Amino acid sequence: MNNLLIQNIGTLATPLGSKARGGGAQGAVKVMKNAWVLIEDGVISQVGDGTPPVLADAQVLDAGGNLVTPGLVDAHTHLIFGGWRQNELGLKLHGAAYLDILAQGGGILSTVRSTRAASETELADKAALALDEMLCFGTTTCEAKSGYGLELETELRQLRAIRTLNQRHTIDLVPTFLGAHALPEDYKTNREGYIRLLCQQMLPAVAAEGLAKYCDVFCETGVFTAEETRTILETGKKYGLLPKIHADEIDAIGGSELAGQIGAVSAEHHIVCRQSGIDSMARGGTVACLLPATSFYLGAAFAPARQLQQAGVPVAMATDFNPGSCPCLNMQLVINLGCLKYRFTPEEVLTAVTLNAAAAIGMADKVGTVEPGKQGDLVIWDAPDLDYICYRMGSNLVKQVVKRGILV
Ligand code: NIG
Ligand code: FE
Repeated sequence: MNNLLIQNIGTLATPLGSKARGGGAQGAVKVMKNAWVLIEDGVISQVGDGTPPVLADAQVLDAGGNLVTPGLVDAHTHLIFGGWRQNELGLKLHGAAYLDILAQGGGILSTVRSTRAASETELADKAALALDEMLCFGTTTCEAKSGYGLELETELRQLRAIRTLNQRHTIDLVPTFLGAHALPEDYKTNREGYIRLLCQQMLPAVAAEGLAKYCDVFCETGVFTAEETRTILETGKKYGLLPKIHADEIDAIGGSELAGQIGAVSAEHHIVCRQSGIDSMARGGTVACLLPATSFYLGAAFAPARQLQQAGVPVAMATDFNPGSCPCLNMQLVINLGCLKYRFTPEEVLTAVTLNAAAAIGMADKVGTVEPGKQGDLVIWDAPDLDYICYRMGSNLVKQVVKRGILV
């Protein structure tokens, strides 16, 4: 038996349950003072307050009167890629827009060239460094997308790198196939051809190797239309891949509306989301995964988080880590922006980065809360309470991370 008793927890703050929470329930967080948590063989078995049990066979960890929360869940990352794109900063400062850089063969397409040139080991080693940093910032579960191959072999290579990393790294990874991230340069004038390739070759190959749980599409002006997105995601469903959509990031072309109609597990961005998109997601039970660090980095508006939440759409928040629109691995920045830009309360933000984020990647039965039956994934903060981690900015406030009951 491998047992860990965490005691002397000044404040334990956690949402409860295994379902995403929207509306008034978004901020329903349980706060316990002077608490303790017992983890047995990687799974939380008891949570209490007051005097902790005395156990002969448990390792005891003193939380020093600090805050403990569930491990953070980063529900949207483009983890696997070759190269970086620091050259685009200068272009942006001179006024180039994100979609203009892409239309000129830069942006995503420049990362595609670097990714195609990298081996599976190179891709995995580079991403492992990113995961190390994420773990230090308190992330214990993370979604990871392909999408920088845009041809069969490189997409498979990216997904295989994710599979290898999931075995080798402490952070649990959930893989998403994003072959529909852009039109590759050789298909610039043959959209139908690339969609056929996605549907007839890539999706079947990804499914045959069991490499992805989700299929995602960048539904955007100059990338994929809402109808094309529907075709790709419906085909993905036939192969057992659940739908996700990059929706309404720059232009509102129907991505959020489609997300609700097609029963997407989550849809992301929603910066320019219309009321019809909000209503559709509320009806379809889709989690809105908001990416405030991307809004900040692009100098764009911030998604209508309060409208989404009030309409009953559960709101999650993630980094969107990628080499272009958000080269950021730090969920603590997302927490700050969630409060300051979406005007969410600390409790609403905590739910967004734990339980709702877990639900956005189908992991809410395992992680996202601190309660019996969930995996022993927790963060011990160098902070007395939840307000403190939302209020401080720019420091890493993580003191210790516990993953499956082991101090990492
Ligand atoms: O979510 N918008 C599409 N995909 C990413 C950006 C990827 C990139 O620029 O490399 C996003 O912002
Ligand atoms: Fe993204």
